[in-house]
Amino acid sequence: MVKICRYGKVDSTQNVAKELIEEGEEEGLVVIADEQSKGKGRLGRKWISPSDGLYFSVVVKKQGALPLISAVAVAKTLEEFGLRARIKWPNDVLVKNKKIAGIIIELFRNYAIIGIGVNMDTVPLKTSTAIKEQTGKSISKDILLKRILKNFEVEDAFCEYKRLSDTIGRFVRIEMIDGFVEGTAIDIDEHGRLMLKSEGKIRKITSGDCIHLR
Ligand code: BTN
Repeated sequence: MVKICRYGKVDSTQNVAKELIEEGEEEGLVVIADEQSKGKGRLGRKWISPSDGLYFSVVVKKQGALPLISAVAVAKTLEEFGLRARIKWPNDVLVKNKKIAGIIIELFRNYAIIGIGVNMDTVPLKTSTAIKEQTGKSISKDILLKRILKNFEVEDAFCEYKRLSDTIGRFVRIEMIDGFVEGTAIDIDEHGRLMLKSEGKIRKITSGDCIHLR
């Protein structure tokens, strides 16, 4: 069962979801806001959140495949709206090599909170794009939200992830807290780890910032 809680401006829908979990809300909660003053990105970055974007957090049970499932849900939905969306490992959604949507997954109490931001009308950064820039049209936030939530139920997210991956096959640099590694992204496993062929060895990368070098 899905319970949607709507807000005007919040600091971050991730924080609101945590507060609501503390108050007894559980799996199935969706927190959506018009705007965020402190939108959270991965790796300590900010997520610029003007009033025309889609910002929501979904509370689910913890499980390993969530980065795959959520990236597929967003990319597939954007495909349904006519965009050629692709996934940059682990779960950035790109159109024409520019970021259109981002996903952060935080573990809290017994839950995982999946935070999703989609650029709809405004292009927040030079490296970003937005739905309107790509299609020339604005779409309804409610319809987009509904379709993304529906696509969380996609069958065989693992295969879909591979189909939609823009990273597999590329030479990449993975920046981690303690340094970086470069190599060819040859595959991902069912836990979402990246198989990187680097200096003749296969390394399984769990997390990091992925830069497509060629
Ligand atoms: C990233 O690509 O770095 C992840 C961005 C995630 C942004 C969304 S917007 C809704 C939710 N609330 C937040 O504060 N962050 C996520």
